[in-house]
Amino acid sequence: MKIAVIHGQAHKKNTFKVTQLLLQKLNCSEDNIVEINVNKVSPCCGCAQCIMKGESFCPHYEQISSIIKTIDESDVIILDSPNYCMGMTGQLKSFCDHLAYRWMSHRPVDMRSKIGVAISTTAGTGASKTTKQITEQMIWWSVGRVYQIAFTIGSFSIEEASKGKLQKLDKNINKIAKNINKRVGNSKPCFKTRFYFKMMAIMQNRMPWNQVETDYWKSQGWIK
Ligand SMILES: Cc1cc2nc3c(=O)[nH]c(=O)nc-3n(C[C@H](O)[C@H](O)[C@H](O)COP(=O)(O)O)c2cc1C
Repeated sequence: MKIAVIHGQAHKKNTFKVTQLLLQKLNCSEDNIVEINVNKVSPCCGCAQCIMKGESFCPHYEQISSIIKTIDESDVIILDSPNYCMGMTGQLKSFCDHLAYRWMSHRPVDMRSKIGVAISTTAGTGASKTTKQITEQMIWWSVGRVYQIAFTIGSFSIEEASKGKLQKLDKNINKIAKNINKRVGNSKPCFKTRFYFKMMAIMQNRMPWNQVETDYWKSQGWIK
C-alpha cells in the first residue's frame, strides 16, 4: 500500500503524533509513505482558471502539482489538522481550495477506490467538527471511504492526556487500521460518494455549463 500524508500544520505536536500512531499500525513500509505539509502553499487567489480552463492555468500550479501527484499515486490519503477555532487550519483549507476543480461537481479524478483518513486533535472541543470538514473535502474529491480520528485531549499537550483517553484513542486507531489493512486494494465506495457521483453525472449530462467539464466527463466515459 502507498500512503500520502498531508499535514495541515508544519509542527510535529499533538496531531502529528496521533497520525504517527496510525501509520505505525498500517501494513506499509516507510518507503511507501510520503509526508508533506502544506504550510508554504500560497492561498487560492480566486481566479477560477482551474475550474474554467484547466488546473495548469492556476498561478500556483507548480506548488501544488507535486502534492497532487503524490495523492494520485497513493491508495490511502491521510489529512490531518489541529482544531483551530472549530475547524481545520487555514493552511489546509487553502490547500483544499486549490482542489476545487477536482470536486465531483467539476472534473473529478476518480478516487473511488481510495481510502481517506481525517485526523484532528483539540484541547476541549471541535476535533470531530474538524474531521467532518476534512472528510467532506475528500468525499467531494470522490474518495470512496473516509475514516475519522478525532481526539479531545483535555489539555494542550497529548502527554498530559488521561490514561483512559489514550486507551480509547488506541482502540479507535486499532479498529481503523484493521479496516484499512483489510480493505486496501479492494475498497468499494460508500453510499455518499456513489450518490454524489451519480447526481453530478446527471447534472453534467442535463445541464452542461462549461465545455471543459463536458469534454472531460465524456472523455472519461461517464456521460455520452
Ligand atoms: C489558533 C488556535 C486555535 C485553537 N482553537 C481551539 C478551539 O476552538 N477549541 C479547543 O478546544 N482548542 C483549540 N485550540 C487548541 C488546539 O486545538 C489543541 O491544542 C490541539 O491539540 C493542537 O494540536 P497540535 O499540537 O497538533 O497543534 C486552538 C489552538 C490554537 C493554536
